[in-house]
Amino acid sequence: MDEAIGSADRLLEVLAAGAVVNDDEPVDLLAHALQCAEHLARRHPEDPELIVAGLVHDVGSILQPNRPADHAAIGAAAVEALLGTRVARLVAGHAEAKRYLVTTDPGYRSQLSARSIETLRHQGGPMDGEELDAFAARAGSDLEALLDLRRADDGAKVPGAPTRPPAAWRPMLVALSGRTS
Ligand SMILES: [Fe+2]
Repeated sequence: MDEAIGSADRLLEVLAAGAVVNDDEPVDLLAHALQCAEHLARRHPEDPELIVAGLVHDVGSILQPNRPADHAAIGAAAVEALLGTRVARLVAGHAEAKRYLVTTDPGYRSQLSARSIETLRHQGGPMDGEELDAFAARAGSDLEALLDLRRADDGAKVPGAPTRPPAAWRPMLVALSGRTS
């Protein structure tokens, strides 16, 4: 069942449920979400939509665990009504951004976790030339944002890394949801 997340508080509940899901990574999905948001807040303090996309990029894996090929689309569908089209598109593209970076950045694969290399196969592996062009065209002006979201995602798997608590993001979530509803 696909679930649309209807409020900032419901979204924080879903993220909290990520504390008991680890998706075979060294950190649970709540810690992963918080670390990803921290990276993006440091790098793109001017872009709350990108920061929030980092926070929610794996909600699909919390709502429906063990669906690596679909989790990006599941997450995007779950947050679009609440957080808007741009956040949803960033979430939707984060798995393909891995495929793009594996293909275009020679040093990138070595930065991926073992689990992420394993799921890459289910997600289609490296892109061919046509796929690269189509991905860049779909991303448009958000190509760099999407690639930075992906790099933040890959860097957000450090056990014990300090983050602010989930509730610290509530005002940003409320502001974005107020804007789109
Ligand atoms: Fe992730």
